[in-house]
Amino acid sequence: MNHKEETMAKDLLKGKRGIIFGALDEKSIAWHVAEHCVAEGAQITLTNAPVALRLGGINKLGEKLNCEIIPADATSLEDLENLFSKSMEILGGKIDFVLHSIGMSLNVRKKREYTDVNYDWMHKTFDISAMSFHRVMQTAYKMDAMNEWGSIVALSYIAAQRVFPDYNEMAESKALLESFARSFGYHYAKKKKVRVNTISQSPTITTAGSGVKGFDDFYGYADKMSPLGNADASTCADFCVSMFSDYTKMVTMQNLYHDGGFSNMGMDPAVLDL
Ligand SMILES: NC(=O)c1ccc[n+]([C@@H]2O[C@H](COP(=O)([O-])OP(=O)(O)OC[C@H]3O[C@@H](n4cnc5c(N)ncnc54)[C@H](O)[C@@H]3O)[C@@H](O)[C@H]2O)c1
Repeated sequence: MNHKEETMAKDLLKGKRGIIFGALDEKSIAWHVAEHCVAEGAQITLTNAPVALRLGGINKLGEKLNCEIIPADATSLEDLENLFSKSMEILGGKIDFVLHSIGMSLNVRKKREYTDVNYDWMHKTFDISAMSFHRVMQTAYKMDAMNEWGSIVALSYIAAQRVFPDYNEMAESKALLESFARSFGYHYAKKKKVRVNTISQSPTITTAGSGVKGFDDFYGYADKMSPLGNADASTCADFCVSMFSDYTKMVTMQNLYHDGGFSNMGMDPAVLDL
């Protein structure tokens, strides 16, 4: 985060404790969210899959923000239970906010077309990218690990609603993810007044994003189709901060577009100049 951003911080998350999943490197959306949350006064723990920790990037972030890193594979209940209990111990109390920023498609990674997917891989994709969200929430729910009026956010993409052919099985992953936000959001609101939402983000240049076929062309297209242009990772982090703050207490079970207006566009002549 640059000096200007730091000086703009307003302590919106002062006294709050959070867990941030998914910071892999400086480009990761979660990396920016972690920086912005700490700048706004939160105390956080960072987590990622053990294999991602071995790549090392997240250690730099941990040092910079002076926060602990707890390995957790989001497909393992045991890892998630350990994550919540260690986080409560380290941060000194129950958790106020969680960012789920996890996505991985085996069929995309192995370049299998949508009409020729491997179903074992598809199953694994859903497990990592969507069921993990339910698993995170169920773990916190059963452990009573969230404070009242806590906020849980996962990152989604508009391919959950509209066809983007090269997004492959991630489209269904995101549809499932958004549905979990609605259904679990009901139960968590009733039990503990915890809110659950998804943020549907513009294409963003990250490791996961760039893995999608034709990403660069598509990124340019979306930028032209969005009257405000593509939303970047830093503005996404600002939006996450507001969703974790007390200024959005009654927002729950929503899929919120953070896309510069893309989702409501039909046609912009600007795209004809591509
Ligand atoms: N980049 C985009 O264009 C874009 C657009 C909309 C939404 N999103 C979503 O934003 C989220 C973050 O992605 P990103 O673009 O910052 O890319 P990224 O590659 O930086 O982040 C993806 C993260 O998922 C983690 N992960 C993968 N398997 C895991 C597992 N089993 N357990 C725990 N963590 C695991 C990776 O280690 C990585 O940190 C994803 O849900 C993605 O689908 C991205």
